Amino acid sequence: MKIKKAVIPVGGLGTRFLPATKAQPKEMLPIVDKPAVQYIVEEAVASGIESIIFITGRNKKSIEDHFDKSVELELLLEEKQKVDILKEVQQISSMSNIHYIRQKEPLGLGHAVLCAEQFIGDEPFAVLLGDDIMISEKPALKQLIDTYHRTQQSVIGVKKVAMEDVSKYGIIDPGSKFGQVHSVKDLVEKPAIANAPSDLAVMGRYILNPSIFSYLKSIELGVGNELQLTDALRLLCQKERLVALDLIGKRYDIGDKVGYLKAMIEVALQREDLNDSLLSYLEKLVETERTQNSVYRSKLNKNKKISSASS
Ligand code: UTP
Repeated sequence: MKIKKAVIPVGGLGTRFLPATKAQPKEMLPIVDKPAVQYIVEEAVASGIESIIFITGRNKKSIEDHFDKSVELELLLEEKQKVDILKEVQQISSMSNIHYIRQKEPLGLGHAVLCAEQFIGDEPFAVLLGDDIMISEKPALKQLIDTYHRTQQSVIGVKKVAMEDVSKYGIIDPGSKFGQVHSVKDLVEKPAIANAPSDLAVMGRYILNPSIFSYLKSIELGVGNELQLTDALRLLCQKERLVALDLIGKRYDIGDKVGYLKAMIEVALQREDLNDSLLSYLEKLVETERTQNSVYRSKLNKNKKISSASS
C-alpha cells in the first residue's frame, strides 16, 4: 500500500532550547534562511507524501502561518518585482495538503502520534520528528518507504552514535542483519551506557503500521512521565515484526544547541552563495582561536613552573 500520509509532531516544549523557545517553536528556528520544519516538509514531499498532519501545541501558530498563503506579502513582493523570492514564498504554501491537530497537553511523543489516529485511519503512515533534520541525496523518508515496500513491516530509521551519547536516544537491540536492514528484538528509551544493547539510535523517521495505535493505547507513562513511542514500538516488536534501516545521510538534532549550530554551519557551507565567504571566515576564526589557545597554554605552563619553584 502506498505511504501517502505523514505525521509531524511539533507539540513539545523545546526546554533544551530555552529561552529561545519561550514564545516561538524550536521547529521555526532558521537553518540559514529556512525554518527547520520546512526541511522536514520538503523531505516528506520529495518522498511522495501527499498529506501531512502537524501535531501542534502552545506557541506553535507560526508554523501554521508559515505554510499558509500570505496575500499581503505576495502583493508587496509583486509590486517590488522581487520575482525569485515571490516564487519561493508562493511555493511554500502550495507544497502539500497540510492539516493541524492540537495536542492539548505535551504528554509525550507517543501521545502526539496517537492524536493522529482518526486522520490516519487504517493505513501505514510516516512519522517525521520536527527537530531531526536529515540531509541526504535520497531523502531519508524515501529510504524508509522503499524498505517498507520490500519488507511490509514497520520500519524505523537508525544511525550509529558514540557510546557516550546513547543516553540521549532510543536505542535498538538488533537481531539479524540483511544489507542495511536489522531485525529489531527490543528497544530501550535513553539507556545508561552500561544498559545500552547497541550503539544504534532511533533517528526520528518511522513508517508504522496502523496497529501502533492499539499499542499506544495500552502503554503506561514511561521515561520523563510521558507516553513514549518507544514503549509502543517495544510492544509492536513483541507481537509483530519491526525492522530498522541504517539511514544514509547526515542528521542534525536541532533541539540541541550544538546540533543546531552544526546544522547551521554545515548547511550554509553547502550553499554556493555562502560557501566562499563563510569558509574564509571560519578558517580565520580557527587560526585566531589556535593562536590564542597556544599563547594561553604557554602562559599557564609558565605560571605552573613559577608556583612549583616557589613551593
Ligand atoms: P523531544 O523530546 O525532542 O522534544 O520530542 P521536546 O519535548 O520539545 O524537547 P525538549 O526535550 O523539552 O527540549 C521529539 C519530538 O516530539 C514532539 C516534539 O515537538 C519533537 O518534535 N513532541 C514531544 C510532541 O509533539 N509532543 C510531546 O508531548 C512531546
